Amino acid sequence: GTTLKAAAAEKGRYFGAAVATGKLSDGQYVGILNREFNSVVAENEMKWDATEPQQGRFTYTGGDRLVSHARANGMSVRGHALLWHAQQPGWAQNMSGSALRNAAINHVTQVATHFRGQIHSWDVVNEAFADGGSGARRDSNLQRTGNDWIEAAFRAARAADPGAKLCYNDYNTDGINAKSTGIYNMVRDFKARGVPIDCVGFQSHLGTSLAGDYQANLQRFADLGVDVQITELDVMTGPNQANIYAAVTRACLAVARCTGVTVWGVRDSDSWRGSDDALLFDRSGNKKAAYNAVLDTLNAG
Ligand code: G3I
Repeated sequence: GTTLKAAAAEKGRYFGAAVATGKLSDGQYVGILNREFNSVVAENEMKWDATEPQQGRFTYTGGDRLVSHARANGMSVRGHALLWHAQQPGWAQNMSGSALRNAAINHVTQVATHFRGQIHSWDVVNEAFADGGSGARRDSNLQRTGNDWIEAAFRAARAADPGAKLCYNDYNTDGINAKSTGIYNMVRDFKARGVPIDCVGFQSHLGTSLAGDYQANLQRFADLGVDVQITELDVMTGPNQANIYAAVTRACLAVARCTGVTVWGVRDSDSWRGSDDALLFDRSGNKKAAYNAVLDTLNAG
């Protein structure tokens, strides 16, 4: 293949990018997006603060715009994210207990229902585990409603959109460590008890090296009977950037249940990481060495 999406498709994978819908009027941006990617995810527009700015008042303008762009261009859509401790609307930040639990589950139901049939995979719950060595849940207003809030969210999402793959998504899970093991144990428990979960997203916001057991970590999750996806890939600029991009791509291709890779933006200038220059296209829209490394890896073998 001569594009990321074509080369990935030959290997049975998708290749996606996070999109800021405000940039869909930027010709250079859309040109790259439509040429190279066959999956999109909203960088912000499907989050709780964007979709339910006032309790019970839902706004889907940005998300609908992205879905319609995807449909018109043969792209699938990842939904991001139904519940997260960050980017909550102010009204939810100030809630607790059963009122928050009910509001959160209602949010899942309403948003997943609105987009029913349009979403390939939903990040149902994002970043619910703590960093560091505890392997425990992150403290948050949602966690304080009870440890079962995650499974309640997955059950509500399944009921609302039975056709969407339901994912748990997190970062700092790039190898076998306390945090990824905490998530692993949750997924194993969910599978054992029949809680509906289909996939785990590995954000993969990476620095200047990659954990040696990155692929082994993906594989142990796949062995639980879930798909795995690289969901927010970006890599610190430097002499290792292209190699790390290639290694992540190779790891996904080596794990049968790794269904696709999403990079968290298009050009370096579109990235939340600013001067890290962490993406595949430079600020002028030119392909970087990292791009060629990913493409060559997708085409190898
Ligand atoms: O839209 C407002 C604008 O009106 C206002 O003037 C401006 C002033 O700060 O803020 C704008 O909103 C910003 C928004 O991005 C859109 O640009 C928010 O402040 C800013 O916080 C927000 O950042 C996003 C961040 O999530 C929020 O936590 C990033 O774009 C987005 O890339 C980032 O994505 C997250 C994933 O969802 C989850 N995993 C980590 C990843 C990177 O942080």
